[in-house]
Amino acid sequence: MTTTVRAEGLTKRFGRTLALAGVDLTMGTGVTALLGPNGAGKTTLLRILATVLSSDAGTVELLGHRIDCADGRLAVRRRLGYLPQEPGFHRHFTAFEFVDYVAVLKEWGDRRPRHDEVRRVLELVGLQDQAGTRIRNLSGGMRRRVGIAQALLGSPDLLLLDEPTAGLDPEQRLRFRELLGTAAHSTVVLSTHQTDDVAALCQHVLVLLGGHVRFAGTPDDLAALAEGHVWVDDRRHPGAELAWVTSQGAVRQIGTPPRGATTATPTVEDGYLLLAGRNGPGGDHGDDAGAAA
Ligand SMILES: Nc1ncnc2c1ncn2[C@@H]1O[C@H](COP(=O)(O)OP(=O)(O)OP(=O)(O)O)[C@@H](O)[C@H]1O
Ligand SMILES: [Mg+2]
Repeated sequence: MTTTVRAEGLTKRFGRTLALAGVDLTMGTGVTALLGPNGAGKTTLLRILATVLSSDAGTVELLGHRIDCADGRLAVRRRLGYLPQEPGFHRHFTAFEFVDYVAVLKEWGDRRPRHDEVRRVLELVGLQDQAGTRIRNLSGGMRRRVGIAQALLGSPDLLLLDEPTAGLDPEQRLRFRELLGTAAHSTVVLSTHQTDDVAALCQHVLVLLGGHVRFAGTPDDLAALAEGHVWVDDRRHPGAELAWVTSQGAVRQIGTPPRGATTATPTVEDGYLLLAGRNGPGGDHGDDAGAAA
């Protein structure tokens, strides 16, 4: 893995809220997922990496450029695609006009190759038939796909996607997975709340909790944190930190299993939930799972 993203001591405050509390991280080519509960700092981190927000302290190097100087930022912006969590669409534009407008801002001067590129990215997200529809008349999931399309313009070396699969139907989520599979040579960072996306399409995962990186590794490593801590029984045990009834009517539990329990193979979600539960508000912060980062 070639390191393409490096951050050291990244800190960001909004008033009294410490959104990022000295984040150190490295990322490379391939797909990295950012996992974390609401308010963990995922969007703040992505906005800093996208050079739209400056940090209060710390350094960031992207694609070999420091972004604390204008030249470095410009060099990175030319190779960057970014889907914000809440893109500000011009709702009276059609899908085509909107993506074309972004392409103009991205210095695609010549009309014909630019239009070819706009058509290409709209097709990648399956919106070729809606290219002429006004954004305000598109469904929420389709709007999300317009946002993904504009981020894909020019096949960027660094693709930052803030909750790209939120609101996508199952078919479109599959399509999205396929699409990212073709971007393997670039660095893709995406935030998500869907742990099945992480298992299916990410080579690396980073868990942010309260502005700290609490885990960095592969999805399998994250799942392995819950090894021996997941079991299924017919009723909730006091040693369970989390428990829910499965569709088969059994109780899947995470925590300290009772003696003799048959443990289950942990998933990425199990690993994440155990980590988040033990490092989140009220967590004991002292568990071995938390030492992984
Ligand atoms: N512009 C802002 N002004 C004030 N506080 C902010 C601002 N942006 C973020 N915050 C705060 O910083 C913290 C981190 O927010 P952030 O949006 O990065 O979280 P997140 O991990 O993306 O959450 P979510 O999963 O809900 O999208 C939160 O406490 C949030 O309230
Ligand atoms: Mg967010």
